[in-house]
Amino acid sequence: MLRPYPQIQVLSMPIVANKTEQTLAQLRITRPEKITELFAEVRARFDGEAAAAKDEATWKTFRDAWLGRKSGALTRITDNWLKPASAELKRAVGQQLNELRAHVEAKIEERRAAIESGAEQAALARERIDLSLPGVIRPIGSRHIIRQVFEEIERIFAQIGFSVVEGPEIETPYYNFEALNIPEFHPVRDDMDTFYIDLPKGAQETLLLRTHTSPMQIRTMEKQQPPVRIIVPGKVYRRDNPDATHSFMFHQVEGLAVDTDITFCEFKGTMEYFVREFFGPSIRTRFRPSYFPFTEPSVELDASCIFCGGSGTASSGGTCSKCKGTGWIELFGAGMVDPAVYGFVKYDAAKLSGFAFGMGPDRMAMLKYGIDDIQALFQNDVRFLRQFP
Ligand code: FA5
Repeated sequence: MLRPYPQIQVLSMPIVANKTEQTLAQLRITRPEKITELFAEVRARFDGEAAAAKDEATWKTFRDAWLGRKSGALTRITDNWLKPASAELKRAVGQQLNELRAHVEAKIEERRAAIESGAEQAALARERIDLSLPGVIRPIGSRHIIRQVFEEIERIFAQIGFSVVEGPEIETPYYNFEALNIPEFHPVRDDMDTFYIDLPKGAQETLLLRTHTSPMQIRTMEKQQPPVRIIVPGKVYRRDNPDATHSFMFHQVEGLAVDTDITFCEFKGTMEYFVREFFGPSIRTRFRPSYFPFTEPSVELDASCIFCGGSGTASSGGTCSKCKGTGWIELFGAGMVDPAVYGFVKYDAAKLSGFAFGMGPDRMAMLKYGIDDIQALFQNDVRFLRQFP
């Protein structure tokens, strides 16, 4: 039985199906001329179906309908027409059947080749890459504003012979305080209260989050003989309440220069050079006396206010709110290295001198780019970060 296939209605046409299912006797064919007519009818039906086999699935059904060993049309013709044919008709049926078989096989192969190359063409067309289409635009990240400021500071100091070192954020009280001439119960520790690490019971050491990058002064001098010229960018921590200029985690860049012939003049000149390179040539600087246990003398470095040009008067005519009318903005602490510190690292205080500084790049970025809240630097709001590509 031919199985009807929805895509090839012709296969279910009853004429061919019925005739090939009947014997010649049932079809009342007794003369060889009628055989030729009968085969012509079958062939026409076959050609019609061949044209409808346009894809692989319909082609397979078509092939099986005609060449299938058990129930294909040619098998039925052999079984129903050839085998039981009278001697008179057998020769004509055999000859016609051979011709039909050759035609069917050739045509089916021809359809297969056509469908295959057509499918390949379609697959190629599907897979073709259209280079003229716009690409997928992925958002490209950029360096955080603080990273950019670090790199700018590093570039400026690298030009005058400083190298960059980094150190641990988890420190011992010895490096964070004692070796910097800040003994236990020294009042300056109040300004640098920090977070202590919970250690397993019985641990010998106390560990804390460093409050400044100054411990790297000690670690560097312990490892390295003078001359020393380093800067230390990194994160630091304090128990400061967050506000517009304070964060409990912020950044510092430490600097240290130690040699046999470093004077206060080199110190001042280096600081002025840096501030001008960073903020621009019109900026003026001044030193104000200050106090750090590890520098002597100690200073606070101020820059002329970049908002009012150092006049103390805002463009509106009122008092400049950024410098509170003073014309100066505090930038960072610094000083000549206190000889007591050399004692902790076994440097000869009689022969050596140097200077150190510790700046806060967060506040410097705020000044340089007019950012009025330090918290914006840490909130990771892309609308803010995109302003510093
Ligand atoms: C110090 O930390 C010293 N170690 C600096 C120093 C180094 C002095 C070497 C002498 C020689 P101070 O506590 O002032 O100093 O902090 C330095 C800078 O860190 C400040 O000028 C400020 O810019 C920044 N800073 C301090 N506290 C905070 C905070 N809570 N949030 C953001 N920035 C801060």
